[in-house]
Amino acid sequence: MIERIEQLRAEGEGAVAQAATTAALEEVRVRHLGRRAELPNLLRGVADLPPEQRGGVGKAANQARQALEALIAGRTRELEAAELDVRLAADRVDVTLPGYPAQPAGRLHLLTATRREIEDVFLGLGFTILEGPEVELVHYNFDALNHAPNHPARDRTDTFYVRRPEAAGQSPVAGPDAPRSTPSDLVLRTHTSPMQIRAMEAHPPPLYVVVPGRVYRRDSDATHTPQFHQIEGLAVDKDVTLADLKGTLLAFARAIFGDEREVRLRPHFFPFTEPSVEVDVSCFNCTEGHLRDGSRCPLCKGTSWLEILGAGEVDPNVYAHVDDDRYDPEKVSGFAFGLGVERIAMLKHAIPDLRLFYDNDLRFLEQFG
Ligand code: DAH
Repeated sequence: MIERIEQLRAEGEGAVAQAATTAALEEVRVRHLGRRAELPNLLRGVADLPPEQRGGVGKAANQARQALEALIAGRTRELEAAELDVRLAADRVDVTLPGYPAQPAGRLHLLTATRREIEDVFLGLGFTILEGPEVELVHYNFDALNHAPNHPARDRTDTFYVRRPEAAGQSPVAGPDAPRSTPSDLVLRTHTSPMQIRAMEAHPPPLYVVVPGRVYRRDSDATHTPQFHQIEGLAVDKDVTLADLKGTLLAFARAIFGDEREVRLRPHFFPFTEPSVEVDVSCFNCTEGHLRDGSRCPLCKGTSWLEILGAGEVDPNVYAHVDDDRYDPEKVSGFAFGLGVERIAMLKHAIPDLRLFYDNDLRFLEQFG
């Protein structure tokens, strides 16, 4: 009897080893441990055996059954895991495939496309692109750019100040008694110019960079939004003159507005350039201020020039604020310029209202790109 039990156990073990799927293993279980299988039947018949055999046979049959049960349970887990792996590999969904039905491809927003177009022009001229923080220290936004302590742009009515976390809960002080901004105060940068200083502190001369980014001012009407985009340019090297600035901006104007364009510089004032200029590009919409039918050009308002940006030679005082002795105004010189991305796009595409860029109206956006 005990020999038969050992034999059944060995047969069961062999069958488990042969089963290659969970379904085949289930069949093995039914055949060897099911209600009609021999081993369980043997166990059930133990009570009918002569008393001296009951102990030994019962024990052997029980052990054999437990051993087979454990073996099948272990092997089931192994086979289930393997089958899951196969299913996972076969059922894999490629979420990067286009949806069905296919959706029309999107396009770049006109401002993104314009920014990239401008970046490409300056990359072609040998400039590198840098980006910087939108939450900026007053030091970089105003002080290091040579703004007088009472410069109007510092006003809380013009500029968004950002409270430091440790000052949370304190009420902001506004009005005529508001304290003047201190260098460690934080603002949403009002222009990309603070990156002039940051770029010089991060890289020794010669330096040729353009810096695109968002800027913020407390302004809102048809030609002003509280957030807009600028591109700053900075070139610092030996003997960089206003003529280099003019040549660079002429190449830029022709690349963006057409090969026939000219540029002119008009004297202006910016705190961080000396001399400072405003730069106009010749109007691409008319001849000397007039359309073909003789009427006044609505784009340049009959002046035949379009103002596109501010620029100048970097003021020596600015180098003094750069934490790097290699920017010594006796040794280096350079030019800077700053332009509005919205303004360039509006001129180029005759867009009448700045707010159209931000309304998210597809009837407007789909006209471009
Ligand atoms: N930061 C000036 C503004 O926001 C624009 C500007 C003017 C930038 C002259 C310059 C510059 O780099 O040289 O109005």
